[in-house]
Amino acid sequence: MKILVTGGCGYVGTVLTGRLLEEGHAVTVVDAMWFGNRLAPHPRLQVVQEDVRQADRLPMRGQDLVIHLANVANDPCSDLAPKLSWETNALASMGLVEAAIAAGVGRFIYASSGSVYGVKEEPEVTEDLSLVPISDYNKTKMISERVLLSYRDRILLQIVRPATICGYSPRMRLDLSVNMLTMQALARGRITVFGGDQVRPNIHLRDMIGVYLHLIAKGEAAAGIYNAGFENLSIMEIARRVTAHVPAEIVVSPSNDPRSYRLSSQKLLATGFVPRFGVEDGIREVVEAFRSGRLTDDDICYNIRTMKKLPGLQ
Ligand SMILES: NC(=O)c1ccc[n+]([C@@H]2O[C@H](COP(=O)([O-])OP(=O)(O)OC[C@H]3O[C@@H](n4cnc5c(N)ncnc54)[C@H](O)[C@@H]3O)[C@@H](O)[C@H]2O)c1
Repeated sequence: MKILVTGGCGYVGTVLTGRLLEEGHAVTVVDAMWFGNRLAPHPRLQVVQEDVRQADRLPMRGQDLVIHLANVANDPCSDLAPKLSWETNALASMGLVEAAIAAGVGRFIYASSGSVYGVKEEPEVTEDLSLVPISDYNKTKMISERVLLSYRDRILLQIVRPATICGYSPRMRLDLSVNMLTMQALARGRITVFGGDQVRPNIHLRDMIGVYLHLIAKGEAAAGIYNAGFENLSIMEIARRVTAHVPAEIVVSPSNDPRSYRLSSQKLLATGFVPRFGVEDGIREVVEAFRSGRLTDDDICYNIRTMKKLPGLQ
């Protein structure tokens, strides 16, 4: 298959692109490269440095599938740059899907977020529950979903609502809870937990990639919206698990974000997807990458620190 991956130089995109190439696909990555480009050259890989807001400039012709990952990808960054976030996360989705349809692309996969539900008391947060997004980031994801869904009679649409991802990527993110707490233990011997009781869902990066490969393989049989998260854990529980690998003091500070939410991924599991990794694997990978010198606690691994340095965003 010929696949266009937006955001292919990101934390998820870098590993996803490698796996798609291993599976024999031809991949075109479009990315603004805010966090650099760590993709290894490959004869079936084309990498284009471009902004997804310029839909008419994207190499859409001849593609079979678009996987749309390029977004301003967390709450603090969306708060830092609301206009950029709305244009990238919501408006560009419309430009992309329209360009895809005009070019005869048959399929579109979108990375939404499990955070679109907002705070939910239900123990099983399923896809049919109402969306009450809280932050601008969450709202852009919900609006993007709605925009894309309005095109679903013209293109095969698959939307994923991932939990917080953990584990190692060559383009590393240390602003994601498991990765962040593990790095705090490694670099400082101390983990700061804000609140600690908040329960959040998690997914390992390799399972995340597995979900995209599964959706590609299933096609029409798995159209629609899917939660993707398999371990609902409190932040304190994650911190405790980290200290089983790296001895560290846990310090609790008051939190201004008491939000808890859990995801149920029964709908995805019912399509035959089998998760194979977990939070423990994520912790182990970060520890191993740090101790082997492949990973250091750099600003580039924190989206907000890097975005603050981008021209026009200081
Ligand atoms: N990482 C997680 O825990 C998580 C959880 C839920 C959803 N998601 C979603 O998955 C997707 C990938 O996340 P990630 O962790 O790889 O994020 P990331 O920040 O590492 O990657 C995003 C990539 O998109 C690119 N990009 C952003 N705006 C762009 C623009 N206007 N034009 C071109 N490129 C642009 C960036 O340069 C970056 O390489 C995002 O849509 C994110 O919201 C991630």
